Amino acid sequence: MVDQADALVFFGATGDLAYKKIFPSLQSMIRHGRLNMPVIGVARQGWNLDQFKARAKASLDEHGGGADPALLNKLFSLLKYVDGDYRNAETFQSLRQALNGAKHPMHYLAIPPSMFATVGEGLAKSQCNIGARIIVEKPFGRSLDSARTLNSTLSKYFPEEAIFRIDHYLGKEPVQSLLYSRFANAVLEPLWNRNYVASVQITMAENIGVQGRGSFYEEAGAIRDVLQNHIMQLVACLAMEPPAGEGEPIRDERAKALTLVRTLSPEDVVRGQFAGYRDEKGVAGDSTVETFAAARLWIDSWRWAGVPFYIRVGKCLPVSCTEIVVDFKKPPQHVFREASIGRSNHLRFRVSPEVILAMGVRVKKIGEALEGTSVELIAQRHPHDEMEPYERLLLDAAGGKADFFAREDQVEEAWRIVDPILGNATPVHSYTPGTWGPAEAQSLLADGVIWRDPRDEGVNPDA
Ligand code: BG6
Repeated sequence: MVDQADALVFFGATGDLAYKKIFPSLQSMIRHGRLNMPVIGVARQGWNLDQFKARAKASLDEHGGGADPALLNKLFSLLKYVDGDYRNAETFQSLRQALNGAKHPMHYLAIPPSMFATVGEGLAKSQCNIGARIIVEKPFGRSLDSARTLNSTLSKYFPEEAIFRIDHYLGKEPVQSLLYSRFANAVLEPLWNRNYVASVQITMAENIGVQGRGSFYEEAGAIRDVLQNHIMQLVACLAMEPPAGEGEPIRDERAKALTLVRTLSPEDVVRGQFAGYRDEKGVAGDSTVETFAAARLWIDSWRWAGVPFYIRVGKCLPVSCTEIVVDFKKPPQHVFREASIGRSNHLRFRVSPEVILAMGVRVKKIGEALEGTSVELIAQRHPHDEMEPYERLLLDAAGGKADFFAREDQVEEAWRIVDPILGNATPVHSYTPGTWGPAEAQSLLADGVIWRDPRDEGVNPDA
């Protein structure tokens, strides 16, 4: 029986992540009747509780769809605030008092990774780590080496089963739905391999730029920002073997899938930068940081040998959409005289902005000729995710459910895959904002394959 958390502590309580994501999730949890534990914000801002409450209200007004008075009152009744430097023992003594004997506090580190060691040590010295869980945010390291260092730092103060590494993509409804559909339908399993799948495409497109986060982005780039984490989680969910059940077996299989992904080499990657990026605030005039990356991944397993996984991520692309398309092989013979046999069969999982699960098939056009057209059977279509990923994940962590959190070995495997192509291992090509990135990305695709445009909704082009 796993213990339910009885206090939520968040470090970095006056910061950006808390403002944009944590307070809105707390309001939502209260709306759903799921938050009854004290919530303690910790920061070094020189604030008092009233100022902290004002920040919570402003966050809900701006990012939580407006502060609901009843929900806000309830949130205020749960909020406590500890002000202090993370390097001072007194800060942690005050936290211990605020915890008021809580047996299973959950400490959320919404702070830069460079502070993890300091806070971990403070929690341990004040014994606030006993019986506790810790939640950490991406970026989890900047490279394989730094991720290993971070993992060993955290493991000094918390056992692995108490460490919850957030990747909000794993908290998204359609990602969980992808996992569910794969293993709740026996009919998919015979098709889910190199015998039937021709290729897999994953597009994570954003039509926004870096939105004032230029200095953050200069340190990250698209590969570190989303490919190493969000995309690798999607690859793991697509490629993994059937788990023996919920819980740790799901994490075992996701991690195992990544161990089989071949380390990327420069010829499998094309990097791009949108024209105008270098004029953003906080960006170097000669920056070579990528705002776009396309990659071709290979998985060296019996199931996936020879099946390319084509990935495209980027900012300032024509549309904001994350979508996975699994393309099946074409029929081995042209039976009908029609000019084109159209698109192959496919499965399409739209992760955002809507939730869509669809299967592409050919059907005969009504009429005399034996000619067809491509259509989709929509199994599921929902305008948006009903629950914010952060709410789902905080509730899971509070209940000790780690299925949708990244484990140490998985994070390190994901870094191992991208490590050799970080930085300037490959040239960066300029592209015009509002286009699909540099033309060079086409060179990654096999003959006859095109990058799918999510605006085609899976049915066009008929090629
Ligand atoms: C974050 C990245 O992890 O994911 C951002 O740091 C990106 O750059 C965001 O915009 C995308 O998340 P979502 O949920 O909007 O697809």
